[in-house]
Amino acid sequence: MLIAVLSAKGAPGVTTAALALALSWPRPVVLAELDPAGGDVLAGYGRGEQAADGLGELSLAARRGDVIARLDAHLLQLDQAGRARLLPGLADPTGAAHVDWSRMAGALDAIGDGTTDVLADCGRLRTEHFPTPVVSQAAAVVVVTGSNLRAVRAASQAIAHLRREEAEPGTGPVAVMVVAPGEPYTEREIGDALAVPVIGALPRDAKTAAVLSDGAPAGRGFAQTALMRAAQSVAADLVAFSASRQAVLAPAWSASADPVDSAGPIRG
Ligand SMILES: Nc1ncnc2c1ncn2[C@@H]1O[C@H](COP(=O)(O)OP(=O)(O)OP(=O)(O)O)[C@@H](O)[C@H]1O
Ligand SMILES: [Mg+2]
Repeated sequence: MLIAVLSAKGAPGVTTAALALALSWPRPVVLAELDPAGGDVLAGYGRGEQAADGLGELSLAARRGDVIARLDAHLLQLDQAGRARLLPGLADPTGAAHVDWSRMAGALDAIGDGTTDVLADCGRLRTEHFPTPVVSQAAAVVVVTGSNLRAVRAASQAIAHLRREEAEPGTGPVAVMVVAPGEPYTEREIGDALAVPVIGALPRDAKTAAVLSDGAPAGRGFAQTALMRAAQSVAADLVAFSASRQAVLAPAWSASADPVDSAGPIRG
């Protein structure tokens, strides 16, 4: 399954949220950094120890027509077990103008063949060269929002925009994920206001977020932090949500191994 994650204007932490979900995903997963503004995971979570232009190089390969065959070679391990892998984003955001998003969407959808899921961090909606075809092809589209009025209003506009202009027939259902709920609105209030399902929430947890966004030391209790425990629950709910919506199109699959329980280095 291909699942698109994006943010509206003013929303906090879409990349952090997508990475937390990928590390907590109950099945093999690829986190694809498609933000046209560039990739952040290698510099942040990966502490800059490895440089790779996964999406940029892959999009060059795509022009030669062999994108699916080459995709695997561009994936890096996000955890020790290698169950979560990363397609690093653009090292140079000017490359976004040259990415054939339709081809990329097809290739990512092809990895999501029933055993591996793809979480696509699409960045902020309405950014220039936004990967609209990926959103259109996704089994589910998750809009990340904060919980204050400004963020919820931006999420509402984003959802209307997705429905009105971006979405093509067949686009997966839209759901919302709240980062830092209760500041001041609750998940329920936000769901009611936006009239879309709230797939879950990630609490404000600056220490754990810094591990994910900036490569701060993880420590032994990383998997048990409020943020990672919430991510585990949201990941499971998001798999179920997306699969139920996709059920009419694809055969049922069965869940596999346990969620990742520790942070690990990025490996090629
Ligand atoms: N749940 C959270 N609790 C506390 N801080 C958070 C949380 N999520 C993200 N942050 C912090 O917010 C900042 C921005 O996070 P992140 O890079 O994930 O945002 P983004 O929406 O992907 O931004 P960009 O538009 O630059 O791609 C980081 O410093 C990160 O540590
Ligand atoms: Mg980001």
